[in-house]
Parts: sequence; C-alpha cells; structure tokens
Amino acid sequence: MPLIPIEDNFNDVIAKAQRGYGISDAELVARAEVSPEDFAAVKAGTPLLPVLRRLARHLKLSPDALVVLAKKEAYPRAPIFPRGFAMFNTPDDDITVNNYLVWDPKTREAAVVDTGTDITDLLDVVKSQQLRVVAILITHSHSDHIAALPALIAATGAQVWSHEREPLDLPGARTFADNAYFHLGNIAIKTLPTPGHSPGQTTFYVQGLSWPLALCGDSLFSASVGGSPTRFAEQIKNTRARIFSLPKDTVIGPGHGPLTTLAHERQYNPFFAPDRLPPLAGKAGPAPAATPATQAEVDATAAPARAVDLPKRPRAGKAGRPDSKATPPAKPSKSAKPGRDGARAFKSRRNRSA
Ligand SMILES: [Fe+2]
Repeated sequence: MPLIPIEDNFNDVIAKAQRGYGISDAELVARAEVSPEDFAAVKAGTPLLPVLRRLARHLKLSPDALVVLAKKEAYPRAPIFPRGFAMFNTPDDDITVNNYLVWDPKTREAAVVDTGTDITDLLDVVKSQQLRVVAILITHSHSDHIAALPALIAATGAQVWSHEREPLDLPGARTFADNAYFHLGNIAIKTLPTPGHSPGQTTFYVQGLSWPLALCGDSLFSASVGGSPTRFAEQIKNTRARIFSLPKDTVIGPGHGPLTTLAHERQYNPFFAPDRLPPLAGKAGPAPAATPATQAEVDATAAPARAVDLPKRPRAGKAGRPDSKATPPAKPSKSAKPGRDGARAFKSRRNRSA
C-alpha cells in the first residue's frame, strides 16, 4: 500500500484559514496587496510563492512553512512503535480517514480510537494479537470517524465513550469529562480537550508505549488542521495549548493524513510554525525511518508501506474505564519495527469540514 499523502495542499490551508478567520477574497486581496488574478491562480492551486508569502502574513500562517508545503519539500517521519500501536487508514469517498488501536502488550487490553469506515484490518490485528477490546474512544462524532461504529460494537462488545459535550445517540454509550484517564494495564490515556473543530473534539494522549502518542482526530493534521467555520480561533488556541505543550517527541496520530511528530509540526505546520524557518538540511523530520522525506517523493514512489510485524502473546485483563489518576507509563523501548501506515493514494479532495 502507498504511503499516506499529506492531507492538505497549500491552497487548502489558505482556504481553511480564510474561512476560519472570516476574511473574504476581496478583503484578503486588498490587505495582502496582490492582484485578483494572482489570488485566483493561487486558489486554483498554482504555487506563486511571492503571493503565498504575502497572503500568509494576513492569515496568521507561517510564510516559510506555507512555501515548504507548496514546494512539497517536507514529509513527516514518525518513529516506529514495536508493539502496542497500530494505525488504520480507510477510504471515505475521495479521501481517507484514520483510526487507531492501542493496547498493553502484557495484559492484551486494547482500546480503539475512532472507527474509520472499515474495520476489517483492525479486527485482523485484534485476532492475531489476541487482544480484548475494552473501550472504543471517539475523538469527535463526525460521520467519517464513526462510520464503522455499529460493526465494531457488534464485533467486540466494547463500551463506547465520547466527550460529554458531544454525546453519541447510541444506546449504552457513555461520556467522559476533560482530563479524564483510561487505563489499559500499564497504558494511561488522558482526554485532552481540544474543541473547535467540534464541540467535544478530544485528543487522547497515550503514555506507556515506546513514544508519547497524541491521537488528535481533526484538531491537527500534518501541515494543516481540521476546518472550523465558526470556532476556528478557539480550535487553534486549544490545539496550541493542549497539544503543542506535550513533549516534542510526541507522535501525532491525526484523523486524516500521515503520522507525524510534534517536532515536525512545530517546524512545518503553517498554522503553528515560526514565520522564518532555518534552511532545509536535506531531509526533514526528527527520526530516521524508511520513508520519503518530502511529499514530492511520496508522490513519486510506488514503494508499498511495510506490513505490521507484531509479537503474539495471548493474555487478557480488566476493562479500561476512566478515572482521575494516571498510571505511570512503562519504560520506553528503543527497538524499532515498522508500524501500520498503509493507505490508498488519492488525487482529489471533496469540500468538507475536515
Ligand atoms: Fe471531523
């Protein structure tokens, strides 16, 4: 399977910022002092770099990071989790959506974060790893993220949880509050409130695996964010406060697009990067891995993603439930094996809130 492309192009980022901050085309053209013709070309996808820089300054975007995105000069390289974590990427019309499986390798207790549209591969991992899914955690209730929820409940019988500001219309579904904890053996999962894209949008911060992990739904994508026509400033503020304050080696599992790291997004996400970046030193990204360094290389490669390679150790424990105390995370492992990051490529995006 091909690697997952970066979710948004530079013109998607501009459109999201413009919509989010409520700046009309005419206003932006006037403020940035660009011609309507050049602006129309940029909106249509022509990377006029000087124009991008002018527009960025009036959209609270990093001009340098926006240019890097337009030139496809960076692609995130997340470190490998040898165990306890798998990513799934399922089709949804002309885009794809991510969901995740997290488990304690000793107790075999597992939690699913969002469902995507197809749980076939996820159930394969559950079966091969002999896991017991004890919780289904929902980042937000937009349809693409919970499309396979009925099938997942039927297959696992697990308890479903969403934020109390975004309860699911589902018999037996339960809600969690801000900063609650779920436990899976030695794995602790904290519910970080990152509302804006949706009222209850939650980032699940996972401690106890090889790397700190933030499964953030549509709060943050590699080089972009989920859209929000009405609460965009709030979303950016919450994402900056709750996600960008995590350890810099935190792996980011977004609702769309490839895995990334906080360090990479600090540098290359136009919404959060500084205005001026240091010169690119060849390969972008914080950790060595067998992935391309740029989106252009991703476009060009036909190399398949590497398959899951996980140990088989059956065992089961108690169901995870939220409480107010954290479990100390397990010691990090330094070994590295490939995670699951396969996806189908896509060429066009539908206009949507994500
Ligand atoms: Fe969404």
